[in-house]
Amino acid sequence: MTIRFPIICSILIAVTFCALIPAIRVPDGRVPDDGKDADWPVYGGNNAGNRYSALTQVNKNNVRNLQPAWTYDTGENKPGERGMDMQCQPIVIDGVMYGTTPRLKVFAIDAATGKELWKFDPFEGKRPRFHPTRGVVYWSEGNDKRILFTAGASLFALNAQTGKLVESFGKNGEVDFHDGLGDAANYGYDPYQFNIRNTTPGVIFKNLLITGSSVSEGGDALPGHIRAFDMRTGKVAWVFRTIPLPGEYGYETWSKDSYRKLGGANCWAGMVMDEKRGMVFLGTGSPSVDFYGGARKGSNLFANCVIALNAETGKRVWHFQTVHHDLWDRDIPCPPNLITVKRNGKMVDAVAQATKDGYVFLFDRDTGKPLFPVKEVAVPNAKPLPGDQPWPTQPVPVKPARFANQTLTEADITTRTPEAHAYVLDRFRNSNRGPKNQPPDLSGGLLYGIGGGAEWGGTAADPEGIVYVNGNNMLWWLKMRDAGEIRSGENGQTLSRGQVLFNTNCAVCHATDSQTAAASAATQAYPVLKDVGQRMSREQIGALLETGRGRMPSFQHISKEDRAAILDFLLKTEPKPAANDIHAQTTTTAFKTNASFPYQPPYVNNGNVQFRDQDNYPAIKPPWGTLNAIDMNTGEYLWKVTLGEYPELTKQGLPPTGTENHGGPLVTAGGLLFIAATYDEKLRAFDTKTGKVVWEYQLPAGGFATPITYMVDGKQYIAIAAGGTRYGLKPGGSYIAFALP
Ligand code: HEC
Repeated sequence: MTIRFPIICSILIAVTFCALIPAIRVPDGRVPDDGKDADWPVYGGNNAGNRYSALTQVNKNNVRNLQPAWTYDTGENKPGERGMDMQCQPIVIDGVMYGTTPRLKVFAIDAATGKELWKFDPFEGKRPRFHPTRGVVYWSEGNDKRILFTAGASLFALNAQTGKLVESFGKNGEVDFHDGLGDAANYGYDPYQFNIRNTTPGVIFKNLLITGSSVSEGGDALPGHIRAFDMRTGKVAWVFRTIPLPGEYGYETWSKDSYRKLGGANCWAGMVMDEKRGMVFLGTGSPSVDFYGGARKGSNLFANCVIALNAETGKRVWHFQTVHHDLWDRDIPCPPNLITVKRNGKMVDAVAQATKDGYVFLFDRDTGKPLFPVKEVAVPNAKPLPGDQPWPTQPVPVKPARFANQTLTEADITTRTPEAHAYVLDRFRNSNRGPKNQPPDLSGGLLYGIGGGAEWGGTAADPEGIVYVNGNNMLWWLKMRDAGEIRSGENGQTLSRGQVLFNTNCAVCHATDSQTAAASAATQAYPVLKDVGQRMSREQIGALLETGRGRMPSFQHISKEDRAAILDFLLKTEPKPAANDIHAQTTTTAFKTNASFPYQPPYVNNGNVQFRDQDNYPAIKPPWGTLNAIDMNTGEYLWKVTLGEYPELTKQGLPPTGTENHGGPLVTAGGLLFIAATYDEKLRAFDTKTGKVVWEYQLPAGGFATPITYMVDGKQYIAIAAGGTRYGLKPGGSYIAFALP
């Protein structure tokens, strides 16, 4: 880090000087603090992904005066509407803010006023797709200035000044985001038939856009290869295969030919870049299928890895696997931070990576060697599902201590009320609650870490080597089921074709058994579809299956007839099968239907849902959400505080409990950390030295996104998307910027 002791620029000097001087951008994306205008040029703030700004106009002494400067209403997620997630962290270039709307439109607005300059709809004249997106990428060469972004399975290039498609890019400004994954000759199936999208923007290196992807986590998962697209043509420039082909390094860490069945190992959370070294750093997710590894015996490189690649060629420089043979969906949930720490009196360039189970790993940036020792700890008595082979050890860094819960004990069970305690205790006693690395099983278990720990909002880091991470302590209920049973019915009963299709395609999230479905309804993690016909028409559900929404994927890849059969099942409009009707012999139909899927796992999760008490509060003792400042020079915590509250519980006299939180922190040289992310829909500023709240603002809807800061005409702004919608909260469709009066 070069900017160690920023000069404090008084507002007066800033206003008189900065309005006159044209913007100067530090090439690596860091912002100057000499009162000149500062951009937020990339997702994560700078190429190092540090969500850090050297601006100090807003600081500890004046933050209490911070107030809304403008609001930009996207016109979507209106009150009463069923909202979409708005997880976007916008970028600011030369005083223009670029971001996305809940329905995946891209906008450009004046970053000082919020006035709209243009808006682009990627689905104009087409059926839209809906999924979360966290932002856009800017690329320029001379006067050619572009905004890159993905929606559905397309990568678009727009002219940054006009919002019009750049026709020379791909096919009229659009590239198929399946490109580069391989073809039927590699895999025995056609990758273009299956779902891919991108939830987090990639990074630019010279004329390359380097990007990850989001893919299915079931039997229809595409491989999560990392790809670079040439910005001039839209063509794939290089591919790093996260699931190696025969003969490639790491192939032997899988069952033979598992690459033909399994996908995932994708980077869905974004990546960071060391331009000087020409290296890109990223984390990958678990391999498919999430909770069963019988078809992938081995450690499964490069799933669940921190990977350093040569940005020019895509060649691997080093990797470190944080979970071997993942059976718990412990994806690396956020991009790393590139930081510099002091080691034995010397400054060492490092990579810090937070995980879903609450660790922060620290690596030497050149070699990948852990800077705090990592122990391989034996996993005792792991009782796997038949056919699986859990890995005998898992890595544990000796420092820093974990920032999130890992193992449930009876002492952790909620004591909020005697009823809540009894309710959770009963489930605790009647479920598998083994150690953290106990494999999933058929009786059902309570565990942490399916959701982080750390989450997609990511971690912030300052030039002193302090990493700031918001953590979740949420308990999950995971129960596996024999897939044959799901396809053909328990106790030998005959299931309709629609039900079989539902069980195979939908039940992993929407659940089939009443216990899991009830838990799911209570947490609103996934809607229960038992009486969906009373809320939605056939057309509406049919449309939803084509478009997807939020975490619900699109199902365009299953045939129209099968979708119709599922609708019949959901809406109870199925013809009663005659006892000898061959169509009712659903087992065969279902297997036939999904024969196009690369893989049919013998065990599937019968719903993975958050487990809460009967009043829908977390099932454990607080804190349920935390904010942590960890000095990565020493591995010691500077502070740890509760993040968020349930106002109604605080009113009852409970100390603030913290809440589950989604959205990341922003740290500034003004000594402030800004974060929203909580159920209480507030944006807060913390003192980075003490962890004390020094300012807060009630947003019009929850800010489940990461704030940014920038300076235009000498004025520093802090902005965030307030999209609400998560956790069943009200939707919102606006971006709000704050400044000093
Ligand atoms: C990966 C998890 C997942 C899978 C698989 C999945 N869904 Fe969903 N589904 C969701 C989520 C999450 C929502 C809520 C979406 C939102 O509104 O943000 C949802 C919403 C729905 C709704 C709307 C319910 C309501 O009350 O508004 C219907 C209907 C639905 N899903 C049907 C299906 C069907 C049919 C399938 C199988 C073909 C399926 N889903 C597969 C996650 C999933």
